[in-house]
Amino acid sequence: MCRRERNAKIRDTGLLRYYLNVYVQLGQGSGVRARERSAVNAGSDVFTKHVLRSYMPATKEHQTLPKTALEAVKGYDLSGKVFLITGAYSGLGAASTRALLSAGATVIAAGRNAKSQADFAAGFSSGPGTIDAEMTLDLGNLASVRDFAHHIQAKYATIDCLMNNAGVMNTPPGKTSDGFEVQMGTNVIGHFLLAKLLAPQTKRQIWLSSTAHLLIGDPPGDVHDHAKAPRINLDIIDKVDDQAYDSWHRYQQSKLGNILLAKRFPIEFGHIESCAVHPGVVRTNLSRHMSIVSILKYVWAAITGKGSKILTPEQGARTQTLCAIMHPEDLVPGGYYADCILAREGDSAQHMDDAKRLYDYCDNATRHFQE
Ligand SMILES: NC(=O)c1ccc[n+]([C@@H]2O[C@H](COP(=O)([O-])OP(=O)(O)OC[C@H]3O[C@@H](n4cnc5c(N)ncnc54)[C@H](OP(=O)(O)O)[C@@H]3O)[C@@H](O)[C@H]2O)c1
Repeated sequence: MCRRERNAKIRDTGLLRYYLNVYVQLGQGSGVRARERSAVNAGSDVFTKHVLRSYMPATKEHQTLPKTALEAVKGYDLSGKVFLITGAYSGLGAASTRALLSAGATVIAAGRNAKSQADFAAGFSSGPGTIDAEMTLDLGNLASVRDFAHHIQAKYATIDCLMNNAGVMNTPPGKTSDGFEVQMGTNVIGHFLLAKLLAPQTKRQIWLSSTAHLLIGDPPGDVHDHAKAPRINLDIIDKVDDQAYDSWHRYQQSKLGNILLAKRFPIEFGHIESCAVHPGVVRTNLSRHMSIVSILKYVWAAITGKGSKILTPEQGARTQTLCAIMHPEDLVPGGYYADCILAREGDSAQHMDDAKRLYDYCDNATRHFQE
């Protein structure tokens, strides 16, 4: 059932009755807990049950779904908890950082530009919470990722949550300094190395993905397809042909890669909880490589109701922030979250063999930097 049909049913029957009906139909007893689900089956079959749980939050802090990142942390005392956020000084990362700090957390704010990082951190120097912006991280440079990870390993015994948030979108043809296509190299391979090096001390990972993992054409418009979106293609990761380069396809591949790694890490490391997040369409610097015409098309689609509503970073960051602090019993390993509830990822994101192949590819590609 598609989202529109589901919403119509919810309107007809009422939210509670609707989900209770589905719950009963599925024959799932109330004792079923999220942790009993393995990442292997964290696909659409578990969607309904966890939507039910998410709409009726188990924690006393949430009686309704939060609308902003600040609302997501309301009622939480995060003092003593350590969060590492990549791309922390702008857009969604900044909104999550602000919210987590407001609840007393320690946030390691990682970015590639030392001045932007220091300026951002200066705004939080008097608390609440503690911001650590000591060292920069360039995800497009694996030596930088390794050095940053070693620094963090030496400084923190535990990372309660690593939020793999940084990203680039729709870039011109180009490669990272290690020879990977720039979107895959930054969004996936750089984050893979960081996540792998920090895995022994990490409890939870959040991987920023997007509905762009469903792209079958250039957005905006009717170009998302759960069944037809391409599977991961490992053969093109280190290839960039300037003439044939399809920047949206490469973004689709990278955001698909983020979901696949979110599913694979808890299998490789049994102690890690992990999920992927789509934040919505959010007004941030991510659109810097889009033409004015494309941006206007997005705005027009939002105004006419044909596209997604455009969110502020504070609204967009609610899902990743909630997933970062959600009770472990409630987080579906390898799940894909949007609008603060579990959502259905595309078919291409449900191939666990692809998740393993991508993990192995990244592992081999970064081997030299793991030694
Ligand atoms: N905005 C949306 O509508 C939307 C929708 C779906 C998914 N997402 C995802 O949300 C995440 C956050 O994006 P955003 O919208 O907040 O965009 P943003 O404001 O552009 O933030 C992206 C951050 O990533 C950083 N970054 C880029 N390349 C990096 C590198 N090589 N090393 C370290 N940091 C790097 C950027 O730093 P610089 O400023 O120095 O470049 C920036 O701080 C991305 O993963 C994106 O794919 C966003």
